[in-house]
Amino acid sequence: MTTECLQVSDAALCRAASLLRAGEVVAFPTETVYGLGADAMKPQAVAKIFAAKERPADNPLIAHIADRAMLQGLVRAVPPDAERLMEAFWPGPLTLVLPKDARVPEIVSAGLDTVGVRMPSHPTALALIRAASCPVAAPSANRSGRPSPTRAAHVLEDMQGRIPLVLDGGPSGYGVESTVLDMAGAVPTVLRPGGVTVEMLQSVLPKVQVDGAVLQPLAEGAQAKSPGMKHRHYAPRAQVLVMRGAKDAVQKSIAAQYDEITHGGRRAAILCGAGTAGYGGRNVYALGQDTEAMAARLFDALRTLDAQGVDVILAEASEVSGMGLALMNRLLRAANFDVVDV
Ligand code: TXA
Ligand code: MG
Repeated sequence: MTTECLQVSDAALCRAASLLRAGEVVAFPTETVYGLGADAMKPQAVAKIFAAKERPADNPLIAHIADRAMLQGLVRAVPPDAERLMEAFWPGPLTLVLPKDARVPEIVSAGLDTVGVRMPSHPTALALIRAASCPVAAPSANRSGRPSPTRAAHVLEDMQGRIPLVLDGGPSGYGVESTVLDMAGAVPTVLRPGGVTVEMLQSVLPKVQVDGAVLQPLAEGAQAKSPGMKHRHYAPRAQVLVMRGAKDAVQKSIAAQYDEITHGGRRAAILCGAGTAGYGGRNVYALGQDTEAMAARLFDALRTLDAQGVDVILAEASEVSGMGLALMNRLLRAANFDVVDV
């Protein structure tokens, strides 16, 4: 199969929507990361997503909708708390896990009794869902385990020859995936932090909690609340090591390790915020001034450093408030929780 890549236009949207209606998969931009979509109500179409991504069958997909009417047939009920969050944060980067309607194909929910639903705010994503007039099941459009794509070029890196079409809508705004909030249990629980921060959620629902697996590896034998938690994620080919502590100590330690690695003949890179003065002359990828800017570039950084053939990425830990929580969640997974306190 050859993969077409089209700039977003009315004609391109038409083509993408007709592919979706015909049971094919299409990659499209959202405000978080690029998604790989299929008609959520067609199991055979959804199966093509799992095949293209080589995604484990036990990892459920998010159903994307363009309006609240589309919740009919996806979820059994919308509890008042979920209603308030939809009111506050939809359309936007918030996925709500709710009790699923029996009509949702098993393959979408990976056999769970719940389904994740989200209304994206990206105009192209909304237009595509409307034109296809079906809920669109879509994971991030990367090969399973790889960093999520924040540009059409990233999608092509992973999906060339595997899917018929990529819609190119430019770089994603948030750069990390949506917040996944479990609304099916007694206490609303963040399973994956994202663009709608914990602080934002708590301003509407003070009882929102954060699952322990967000910043820690899943304990041996523990049951993952979100199947995605147990799979290796966001992993570049390079080894990633996260250094945590006071800024000066972290910079000294990273610089020393960098020199040791490069003197040993291997290639290293430093992933940091904005202050690069302590790293003079070394290979540095500065993510940005604040955690929003840093999150937006993290996945691009991991792919760029891979393309440079870097063996080891030495990364500064970030704070864990606001968008920092999503940033650290992705960074720790990219590092396979290889983190050193200095
Ligand atoms: O921003 C996003 O959410 C992007 C764009 C394309 O919308 N999509 C995305 O999908 O990141 P994916 O499949 O890469 O990540 C979905 C995460 C996985 O960790 C999955 O395990 C979890 O959400 N998830 C999905 N449905 C769930 C459910 N019913 N219960 C618990 N976790 C669920
Ligand atoms: Mg993903």
